[in-house]
Parts: sequence; structure tokens; C-alpha cells
Amino acid sequence: MTRILCTGSAGFIGSHLVERLLENKSNKIIVIDNLNTGKLSNLPKNKNLKVYVKSILDEDIDGLFDEVDIVFHLAALTRPQWSIEHPLEADRINVGGTLKILKHCLWKILNNIILKMFLNKY
Ligand SMILES: NC(=O)c1ccc[n+]([C@@H]2O[C@H](COP(=O)([O-])OP(=O)(O)OC[C@H]3O[C@@H](n4cnc5c(N)ncnc54)[C@H](O)[C@@H]3O)[C@@H](O)[C@H]2O)c1
Repeated sequence: MTRILCTGSAGFIGSHLVERLLENKSNKIIVIDNLNTGKLSNLPKNKNLKVYVKSILDEDIDGLFDEVDIVFHLAALTRPQWSIEHPLEADRINVGGTLKILKHCLWKILNNIILKMFLNKY
């Protein structure tokens, strides 16, 4: 079983990605999307899919990173005009949010390496 976290997957690209990933019955998918522009109706109903209507900046999603093997990060404020008019908010989500996701992934990689070192896998 592969556990996959997809952010922003109620949106255009992410919803197609999830559909494709669900074709493999051994994939378990977690979606995080605050429905800023995405829609729940873009996502299929599937027992292997769990959706959290949350922002990537919410702290209570942090534990989800411990549960997954792969992360696809697609959550973003994607409307250029809106971002020009709201640069600080666009920066908070698009840059700050991405850094937060990367930090979680990095910790996960480091934890795996350290764990494998303890288990003498290296
Ligand atoms: N569509 C394209 O042609 C294209 C091309 C190149 C790159 N991209 C990039 O791919 C990514 C996805 O693009 P898309 O076209 O699917 O955009 P989209 O706007 O359809 O999807 C973005 C999703 O992110 C969600 N989102 C926004 N802020 C969020 C937050 N704080 N927390 C959680 N979810 C949040 C939205 O609700 C939406 O569902 C973006 O980074 C975009 O820049 C898109």
C-alpha cells in the first residue's frame, strides 16, 4: 500500500492527478484543500480517498505528513490578478505554504535515514 498526500487536489490539475492515482487500488490518497477555488465535486467518491477541507497553513494537518510516503504539492493561489492585488496573502500561501510542506518532507526524509541507520540498513 502506498499512502499519498495531495495538496490542492480539489483544483484542476490535482483532481485529475487523484483520479489517476486511484486507478491503482493499492494507493491510499489524502487530499488537503481549503476549497478556495477548488470544488469537492471535482473529486470522485472512493473508499481509498480521504479529503480534509483545510488550509496547508493549518497546524492540525501537520500530523498527516507522518502517515504518508509521497507528497504532491499543488495547493496555491493561482489567479495572477488576485495575487498582484494581494501580494502578502499570495506570498503567505504560495511561498510560506510551500516552504512548510518542504520542511515536513525534509524531516520525513531525515527521520527515515536516521531510522534506517539505527536498523543498520546503511
Ligand atoms: N493549470 C496550469 O496550466 C498550470 C501550469 C503550470 C503550473 N501550474 C501549477 O500547478 C498548481 C495547481 O494548478 P491548478 O491549475 O490545478 O490550480 P487550481 O487553482 O485549480 O488549484 C489550486 C488548488 O489549491 C487550493 N488552495 C488554495 N489555497 C489553499 C490553501 N491555503 N490550502 C489548501 N488548498 C489551497 C484551491 O482551493 C485549489 O483547489 C499551481 O501551483 C499552479 O501554479 C498550473
